[in-house]
Amino acid sequence: MPLKIGVVGAGAMGSNHLRVVRDIGEDRARLVGVAESQEAILARAVDRFNVPGYVDYRKLIEEAHPDLVVVVVPTHLHHEVAAFALDAGVNVLVEKPIASTIAEGQALIDLARQRGVKLAVGHVERFNPAVLALKKQLSNGDLGRIYYLHARRLGPFPPRIRDVGVTLDLATHDLDAMRYLTGSEVERVYAETQQRVHETHEDLLLGLVRFASGAVGMLDVNWLTPTKVRELTVTGDRGMYQVNYLTQDLYFFENDYSPTNWDALRSISGVSEGTMTRLKVQKAEPLRLEYEDLIAALGDDRPPTVTGEDGLAVLRLAHQFIEATKTGEVIRCSAPVRP
Ligand SMILES: NC(=O)c1ccc[n+]([C@@H]2O[C@H](COP(=O)([O-])OP(=O)(O)OC[C@H]3O[C@@H](n4cnc5c(N)ncnc54)[C@H](O)[C@@H]3O)[C@@H](O)[C@H]2O)c1
Repeated sequence: MPLKIGVVGAGAMGSNHLRVVRDIGEDRARLVGVAESQEAILARAVDRFNVPGYVDYRKLIEEAHPDLVVVVVPTHLHHEVAAFALDAGVNVLVEKPIASTIAEGQALIDLARQRGVKLAVGHVERFNPAVLALKKQLSNGDLGRIYYLHARRLGPFPPRIRDVGVTLDLATHDLDAMRYLTGSEVERVYAETQQRVHETHEDLLLGLVRFASGAVGMLDVNWLTPTKVRELTVTGDRGMYQVNYLTQDLYFFENDYSPTNWDALRSISGVSEGTMTRLKVQKAEPLRLEYEDLIAALGDDRPPTVTGEDGLAVLRLAHQFIEATKTGEVIRCSAPVRP
């Protein structure tokens, strides 16, 4: 039986969800409806995807009986729509960030648990083949100890994002990727922000995190740069990995020493440049892999790869960044309990 999927929100990202669900194939996933509050956008989606349209998402859930509702409305509406679906006993994939507030995120997790349905959060970089390949290298111990991670997520201002700042909208991608890659929780955070173009929220973030593992992370994220950059480097004992999230390229810059002469070299010159390798990455659309994971999780009755708890942990860190900028203080984090 194909999984019956309803999509709520047919804007920029909703269109991607609709396309990817359509392309999975009717035997495994069937679009049973799209809900969109703006009629012109709804009409375009209905026409393009040949799917029943609803102005009211409640009607989609009540009349089309989806097994999975995908929530792709602006962030401040995530809780309202996701809670309605979960309460109706329907599995939910909610776009990142899980919600606007920690209380709303927690409420979604509690509701999913009470109703016995699955809640996944769309931290799509988790499914980026270059990130997956990097995780494999790190798990093999190929880098040794991780010293630091540095994310750069820069680009021009998107006028359609009005309800949240760049920290909730973009930095959550890299917070999630860093938690995943280090396998460690954050102990403390500090941040500085700027607000130059956005009317109500910050549009530049410089965030610092320290992980319990001892690794440190730097997030350089803004909507003030006229060119799009999506990059992550991870530096450790043996060199530096570099991911280009956009092209899905993964490079390794090796330190020019062997483990046996490390002590001697360190005292003379430290690290010098060794071989640079471009690792083979089987490229694929991360959103498609996100759906493959969720369909498998629902079929096998196991948690999705990115759980509500993951989404909430990241949202909490994003709010702690913002708190740090308001107080000018380092924020100490209590580790979330992993389910
Ligand atoms: N994972 C990613 O890489 C990624 C990328 C972009 C956006 N997003 C997330 O997707 C969400 C949507 O972002 P977007 O860029 O598509 O925004 P958007 O403004 O282009 O689309 C949102 C759509 O939701 C519709 N909408 C608003 N209220 C509604 C309601 N009550 N019922 C039905 N439809 C409603 C709007 O009319 C609009 O068409 C955000 O949470 C954003 O964070 C994720």
